[in-house]
Amino acid sequence: MASHNDKRVHIATFGCQMNAYDSERMAGMMAHMGYTPVQNPDQADLIVLNTCSVRRRAEEKVYSYVGELKRLKREKPWLIIGVGGCVAQQEGYSLLRRLPHLDFVFGPDAVTSLPELVTQALQGKRQARTQLGPPPGPAGIIVPADPGLRAMVTVMTGCDNFCSYCVVPYVRGRERSRPAGEILDEVAALVAAGVREITLLGQNVNSYHDPDGGLDFAGLLARVNDVEGLWRIRFTTSHPKDLGQGLIDALAGLDKVMEQMHLPAQSGSNRLLKAMNRGYTREQYLEQVRRLREKVPQVALGSDIIVGFPGETQKDFEQSLSLLSEVRYDFLYSFKYSDRPFTKAGRLEGKLDEDTKGSRLVQLQALQRAIGLEEHQAQAGRVEELLVEGPAKHGQGLMSGRSRAGRVVNFPGPPELAGRLVMVRVTQGRENSLAGELLPATGEYTA
Ligand code: SAH
Ligand code: SF4
Ligand code: F3S
Repeated sequence: MASHNDKRVHIATFGCQMNAYDSERMAGMMAHMGYTPVQNPDQADLIVLNTCSVRRRAEEKVYSYVGELKRLKREKPWLIIGVGGCVAQQEGYSLLRRLPHLDFVFGPDAVTSLPELVTQALQGKRQARTQLGPPPGPAGIIVPADPGLRAMVTVMTGCDNFCSYCVVPYVRGRERSRPAGEILDEVAALVAAGVREITLLGQNVNSYHDPDGGLDFAGLLARVNDVEGLWRIRFTTSHPKDLGQGLIDALAGLDKVMEQMHLPAQSGSNRLLKAMNRGYTREQYLEQVRRLREKVPQVALGSDIIVGFPGETQKDFEQSLSLLSEVRYDFLYSFKYSDRPFTKAGRLEGKLDEDTKGSRLVQLQALQRAIGLEEHQAQAGRVEELLVEGPAKHGQGLMSGRSRAGRVVNFPGPPELAGRLVMVRVTQGRENSLAGELLPATGEYTA
């Protein structure tokens, strides 16, 4: 058995950036309890799964992962296994009943209870903590020991939109905005630890409302923009129905707010948008895009599209294809519809078979690949500001960074540039990245 001060934790994270953020905080809390993080679950004394339930495949992944841990627990009876996140919230105590090798289950609002749950599990207590609502006591600010250049900060939790296909409102609960003061303190603490780029997170950041001072999201961005030592701000996700002029003006006017927006359309068909309860029409969506591009012409737009929503006809699907051609997104996440518990769409007639969904997904992705490549090729010759992250994944002597619009640019350069802002000229557009060359005498340039 591991000695008291040689304890190791493995945190397996599934799902969205909200979970990635929570996992970082869990790692911070466990470090205070003397747990060192390890990449390999075989070496761990504590394994925490932070799970996602947004699509059926995501949930299935969790069960197969948990299943594999049975063997580990047999080999190391002292191993503690906890399941957190959205599947934990969805299933609650029934997970403990079905999976005897689990020690505890905790929902997204019980993240700050993790140390207590671990302590009690070590004393043999099996429990599920899945009530939704503000956590007992302030969440506090937990800064990872070595956060790197980029970090996330949650500005709001939960979701009140109840899109008909989506489980998130049920597993994350009602929408709650964090006080702006707490957000700014967290940003400042991260910047003090070396972070230069912050991504503000929420399921629908446009509906942020400071419970203490009444700031809206554009107002919050202006305050974060004033944090000294911070270079770049991104945010996600923006709901098209709530995209106001204030946010468009903030994107245009605040120097640290990057020219990038994730604005999920979900479908190009008005009939389906209505059935999805999205709160906008195709025409209204396109009008938002037009208003945004009018003010911020260089903005990179991203989207999510679901194919095979119940009752989706070939014509509906073609309208999603034509939306892609009309908007010309820079990046796209596309998914096959799957039934989720509690949701309205799960109870709808007209479910599509897997083959139809699969072939529509392939078509949609092929179209986006072509558009994405053309958009990237059109970047050639442009001068871009990059935050250099480190050596490129592929290619010797290449460094990699992100442009203001969020595009990955690889360029020949020395490793010392990591963590710096540099200017490059784009030389070539590829499918998933751009190639560039460092402009002379910019290596020392910092904000
Ligand atoms: N709050 C964000 C996204 C949250 S979930 C928003 O409103 O856009 C991420 C994406 O998963 C969604 O945008 C949607 O495209 C997809 N998704 C959600 N539920 C799904 C389901 N039942 N089947 C397939 N995709 C789904
Ligand atoms: Fe789900 Fe809709 Fe909320 Fe996004 S806005 S999390 S898709 S319910
Ligand atoms: Fe998944 Fe929960 Fe995020 S369901 S997408 S981890 S909010």
